Amino acid sequence: MIAPAPQSYLAFSIIYRLRLNVIKRCGAGKPIEIVETPHQNPYLSLRNPVCMGFEDRPQKIISDFGKLDFDYVPEKLVHRDGPMQSLFSTLKSSVEDGTNQRFAITGSVGTGKSSLAKRFCLDFQDWAAKKGQRVEFAIMNCRSRNTPSAVMLKVIERFQPNFPDRGFSVTEMLEILRKDLSKAGTHLVVVLDEVNVLVKKSGSDLLYSLSRFDDERVTGTRHSISLIMISQQPVTEFLDSATLSTLKRSNQILLDKYSRPELADIVRQRVELAFHPGTVDDDIVEFIADVSSEFGDARFAIELLENAGRAANDDGLDSVGPENVRAAKALTYSVVTENKLASLDRQKQLTLLGISRMMRKKSFATTGEAEKAYAVACEEFGERPRGHTQFWGYLQALADVGLIGLGPSGKGLQGNTSIITLPDIPCKVLEAKLLQVMEEK
Ligand SMILES: Nc1ncnc2c1ncn2[C@@H]1O[C@H](COP(=O)(O)OP(=O)(O)OP(=O)(O)O)[C@@H](O)[C@H]1O
Ligand SMILES: [Mg+2]
Repeated sequence: MIAPAPQSYLAFSIIYRLRLNVIKRCGAGKPIEIVETPHQNPYLSLRNPVCMGFEDRPQKIISDFGKLDFDYVPEKLVHRDGPMQSLFSTLKSSVEDGTNQRFAITGSVGTGKSSLAKRFCLDFQDWAAKKGQRVEFAIMNCRSRNTPSAVMLKVIERFQPNFPDRGFSVTEMLEILRKDLSKAGTHLVVVLDEVNVLVKKSGSDLLYSLSRFDDERVTGTRHSISLIMISQQPVTEFLDSATLSTLKRSNQILLDKYSRPELADIVRQRVELAFHPGTVDDDIVEFIADVSSEFGDARFAIELLENAGRAANDDGLDSVGPENVRAAKALTYSVVTENKLASLDRQKQLTLLGISRMMRKKSFATTGEAEKAYAVACEEFGERPRGHTQFWGYLQALADVGLIGLGPSGKGLQGNTSIITLPDIPCKVLEAKLLQVMEEK
């Protein structure tokens, strides 16, 4: 392959990344063609499929891609015994005494909040079964379930898979749930991931109702619900005082960013689970941990490992080398994962697209500038730009998930405008990733 000229390095990285993703999606399946005019780019030529020559290359490095998937939850979460124990100590009384419990897990991106809750639910269910008790759990992300009825629907579907998605008020649904729990004779753990989105959109009434569920009952079996709330933001910043008062200090944990040695152990575990033996030396594990320690984010470390493994295989190597890690680093960004971009609705994607284009030559932008750029992106995609209030909501939602920074303006800007910043990712890369996920939708 021709060595990329320095100024085209970024374009090269984007294409390389897209190529990785093409391979990710096509696997051993049908060939995929990416067509572009030859003079535009030396790496793509007319009717010259980018992944030609990669299609049939056997995968000699990675043995199980599923174990690198972000939704995969390992049997053991490395360096999270303490938080796991705190959760257990609090929630076990829901099974033993039928009391409602609540717990809040906070921490920055990739600190294992969602995985901790999922692993806990699975292990807790086993623990209860050994005591002859039944535990059910409903786990949901409030970015997509941001109203009380959407949350309640998902909970009830756990017991009645074909429950109608409209026609019942939240109060009625709480009553139905009470009957369902009674009939099933089970305790329930409800996990609300990114709960701050629900509270911002719909307030905290449902949290309050769930945390006092069945409290008035004096006779018969009480059916307890344990509530696990997850957010990056501290709960004190978005919960109202009534709901906060139901949370004891001991029922809140802050997951710290992972240290370099902790990240090395997390990477080592994935190497064992997902790579062919002898393909990743411990030096490489340490190197990946070192690079990721800047963020303390396990997702970033795992994505780096996966991309390095793919790059090594694409280069026909028998094991991952430091150059593969360096190449993977140029393509992997903490905070901005494709998962996150894909889960945004169209309007928020257009908002972020406008911002990423506008900020190529700027270190920050005002909300007014962002709104204009959003309108241009909407026009391009044939969408009607929404009004100012809705646009402001999109900005806040993007800030809530860490895709933009949104803060008060400093000196030099008039009025009470806010300023927008982007996380540590080149705008061009963000734009390319966004266009890619928007195309896939
Ligand atoms: N302690 C750990 N041991 C093994 N894998 C981990 C650990 N912590 C996190 N991971 C892995 O890192 C990835 C990110 O973890 P997770 O989704 O739980 O982070 P999060 O804190 O919920 O992030 P976000 O704030 O972006 O939602 C997942 O693939 C998860 O399996
Ligand atoms: Mg999460």
